[in-house]
Amino acid sequence: MKAALSEASKVEIRRLMAQFPQRQSALLGALFVAQDEAGALYPEIIAEVAEVIDLPVSEVTSVASFYHLYRFSPEGRHLIQVCTNISCLLSGCDRVLRALKQRLDIEMGGTTPDGRFTLKTAECLAACETAPMMMVGPDRHGPLAPENLDEILARYG
Ligand code: FES
Repeated sequence: MKAALSEASKVEIRRLMAQFPQRQSALLGALFVAQDEAGALYPEIIAEVAEVIDLPVSEVTSVASFYHLYRFSPEGRHLIQVCTNISCLLSGCDRVLRALKQRLDIEMGGTTPDGRFTLKTAECLAACETAPMMMVGPDRHGPLAPENLDEILARYG
């Protein structure tokens, strides 16, 4: 866990602020800068973002918690997002999810003890034609079946 922002990140946040007439407009970008450096938006990191951007901590926390792209705890090296939207639901994403939880031995939202994978669900990932599908990092995989998960997971060290 990184509990303090570097001066470089603070400079980047100030650079973002300078691009907008109102400092609040730079908040989403500032949170990404902080998350990229710290690995997650820990309370100490949120407090630093609030101080740099001169907003109440409660406001920064509230914005960060609204968007699913921000995280409050660290993720594994590879984020698995299993689509659970309608096409994937009708094509058996529940079987895929059960198999992934079993193989990785973690619950939804969890991270493997070796820090390799974090497992999450997602809304439609724009690949309905390959339902049921998942993303591992930036890569799309589908159609999935419990039988082909091991081969896919083995590609990610
Ligand atoms: S519903 Fe799963 S990718 Fe669209």
